[in-house]
Amino acid sequence: MQLTKPFFDSFQDYLALQRFPATPKGLYEPIEYIMNLGGKRMRPILLLMSYELFKDDYKEALPAAYAVELFHNFSLVHDDIMDCAPLRRGKPTVHEKWNLNTGILSGDVMLVYVYEYLLKLKDHSRFDMLLETFNKAAIEVCEGQQFDMNFEREQEVGIEAYIKMIELKTSVLLAGGMKLGALYAGASLEDAEHVYQFGKNIGIAFQIQDDYLDTFGDPTKFGKKVGGDIVQNKKTYLVIKALEMANADVRMKLLSYMDNNNSTIEEQEKISAVKDIFETLGIPALTKAAKEQYQELAFEHLHAVDVTKIRKAAIEEIATELLEREL
Ligand code: IPE
Ligand code: IPE
Ligand code: MG
Ligand code: MG
Ligand code: MG
Repeated sequence: MQLTKPFFDSFQDYLALQRFPATPKGLYEPIEYIMNLGGKRMRPILLLMSYELFKDDYKEALPAAYAVELFHNFSLVHDDIMDCAPLRRGKPTVHEKWNLNTGILSGDVMLVYVYEYLLKLKDHSRFDMLLETFNKAAIEVCEGQQFDMNFEREQEVGIEAYIKMIELKTSVLLAGGMKLGALYAGASLEDAEHVYQFGKNIGIAFQIQDDYLDTFGDPTKFGKKVGGDIVQNKKTYLVIKALEMANADVRMKLLSYMDNNNSTIEEQEKISAVKDIFETLGIPALTKAAKEQYQELAFEHLHAVDVTKIRKAAIEEIATELLEREL
């Protein structure tokens, strides 16, 4: 926390100064709402920290940090529509507070503003590289989201397909944002690639933790509806591992709970039955082990970045904290 705080505070200060047009209210108010609901801000912080690995004046990268947080929030507004999610950061989601069309259109315009913010970066000498890095991540997030939705309708999904899906929907934004920070600071392509691989593996670990919290999180801290993934038949790490570990009987039971045509079960009954199965099979411990495996891989790439150890301390601190997160 100690090393992270200046980055967090600078980002919050920058964010507080940003203004969207006053009208039409229906378009811009939801943006102000979602951007000011809080959140961990880990993508912008990691972008700034990646910059600071190579150069001392990280505030120069604030517009890029904001662009990435804006893209993240856009993706959340649309994700909450796709996932029928009622809660985000402990408050009603945009489409719940307003309506579906508002969620769609405010999200769309946020995506355009992302580019406005990238354009605010003062030094354009590597702009093509920055744009290429960002666009690749943005396209891949959409691909990941499509796989995530496809998998709701598939009975079983292999672990490799699952990892690929979370790499796309979650990791590449973290990784791409970090690479953007590194490139903007003038990092070599080799170092920028290590930074990217760090972000990718930390992102995978982060999403595995997100899957865990979606079922086992504390509803008073998590800020999202606990059990939402079970209700939506999401193919999370927990489900995939449970299907692998279960005997024939338990497998049948689990598959029948996730049968898309089985609408006779009450939501809460389904959540608690599936949760029980996960617990009986020891899924929480297996999930933790998987998360740690990706965390280790991530740190190997951080260690390979060719700068002094001391410059990496802030990233080490935030990465460790994030994977222990409860929200
Ligand atoms: C939520 O991201 C979406 C996922 C990729 C799991 P965060 O957990 O970073 O959400 P906020 O921004 O802190 O609310
Ligand atoms: C989030 O995946 C991925 C994106 C928003 C692109 P989830 O659907 O698991 O995220 P939460 O749990 O709603 O935050
Ligand atoms: Mg989703
Ligand atoms: Mg979701
Ligand atoms: Mg989730």
